[in-house]
Amino acid sequence: MLKVNIIKAKDPAEAGKLAADIFQEVMTNNPNCVLGLATGSTPLPLYRELIAREKAGVLNFSTVRSANLDEYKGLAPDHPQSYRYFMQDNLFDHISIDPANTIVPDGLATDAEAMCAEYEKKIEAMGGVDIQLLGIGHDGHIGFNEPCDHFPVATHEVELEEITRQANKRFFDSIDDVPTAAYTMGIGTVMAARKVLLMATGKDKAEIVYKSFFGPVTPQVPASILQFHSDVTVIVDEAAASLLPL
Ligand code: PGA
Repeated sequence: MLKVNIIKAKDPAEAGKLAADIFQEVMTNNPNCVLGLATGSTPLPLYRELIAREKAGVLNFSTVRSANLDEYKGLAPDHPQSYRYFMQDNLFDHISIDPANTIVPDGLATDAEAMCAEYEKKIEAMGGVDIQLLGIGHDGHIGFNEPCDHFPVATHEVELEEITRQANKRFFDSIDDVPTAAYTMGIGTVMAARKVLLMATGKDKAEIVYKSFFGPVTPQVPASILQFHSDVTVIVDEAAASLLPL
């Protein structure tokens, strides 16, 4: 097992600043870098910090490219719960990134398989992901790679687990409105990123963070595969770190 670099922050705001420091280093070293981005509540303090740093003249997104992890199947880009909308609303609309340089899987694809294959090709054409940001689900999912009996390699369609739909229903009017399927980068796509940064905050993530980084590597805990990546940083706040033997 390789050593996972675990950084403990006081709270989510500090976790956002520490994550922004890592993004800043990658962007400074390579102004044309490819950022692998994630949605969810966890990255919000990071996105707020990145916006503030560009406004302060510390960062420049105009030459950066990005590839998002996942998208709900069936949601249009302008649907308020789509991940494309989330990215526009929480990051892209507030920074200088060229919208043409941002990719998110197409929730409305009529040929899902072709769209997924094309998404992999687009990432490859960008030169691969320099830093992949990840949150983590309570079941250990990364992107929408849910627990299963193998590690899916490439971008693919997934049926969403009930636990995930329940966790995400807070954003929808009712559980019936939560899509039942999504498109996600595969575990192989994530593992191909040159650097991985996983953020986890809150007490409800403590157990899965422990299992992922201190338990066996198993597709039943998809995030556990990150133990085999050579450059992983995990940023946890005190609550999410509460079960870790640090
Ligand atoms: P969250 O989602 O940041 O909203 O907790 C994380 C995830 O499900 O990957």
